[in-house]
Amino acid sequence: MKTENTVWHAHQVTKTERADLKGQKPCLLWYTGLSGSGKSTVANAVDDLLFQRKCHTYLLDGDNVRHGLNGDLGFSDEDRVENIRRISQVGKLFVDSGLICSTAFISPFQSDRDMAREMLEQGEFIEVFIDTPIEICEQRDPKGLYKMARAGEIKDFTGIDSAYDIPQTPEIHVQTADLSIEQCALQIVNYLQQNGYIN
Ligand code: ADX
Repeated sequence: MKTENTVWHAHQVTKTERADLKGQKPCLLWYTGLSGSGKSTVANAVDDLLFQRKCHTYLLDGDNVRHGLNGDLGFSDEDRVENIRRISQVGKLFVDSGLICSTAFISPFQSDRDMAREMLEQGEFIEVFIDTPIEICEQRDPKGLYKMARAGEIKDFTGIDSAYDIPQTPEIHVQTADLSIEQCALQIVNYLQQNGYIN
């Protein structure tokens, strides 16, 4: 730690008070899945549904965050770890602010997802596995990246020449192949309702 002489300032308004004001239980919806699996699409659909229900949310999206906060990071294992570390910290702050925060990043390593989980309190971290077979992701190839990776024009591409650890015990397992976007989103919103995060 480089900032040895800083002191943590305790806020006067607590997380519980902030959450109560919003009438919801704050949490971090951690979407994980391959590139092209539909993380951002489903996360946006969930965000829309929650907004309609007057929930207070925020969505941190992989590609967007990599243009700003994490613009200095690439796709080596080391950079991916740092990417997820920063996102976890930001997600934790959003949860502290009383929001239902969603993060949509490949987050390929189980150890990093576990690190994010451990930073939060019990029940605050919800791992959402957007499970789309790589064949389908590759068929969709919305950004043409699989094609480039197969051609060797992109290195370290997840699922091709960089690893993806399949979540073993995600809170929510969305098998997108047989579902519409709306059905995927509803599965997640139903989980939030059944587990008392939203009314
Ligand atoms: S993560 O592995 O560090 O979690 P993140 O979700 O931020 O990845 O970014 C993934 C997005 O970056 C992909 O959806 C894709 O658009 C783009 N991308 C560019 N190069 C790569 C690569 N080598 N591997 C995976 N995604 C890549």
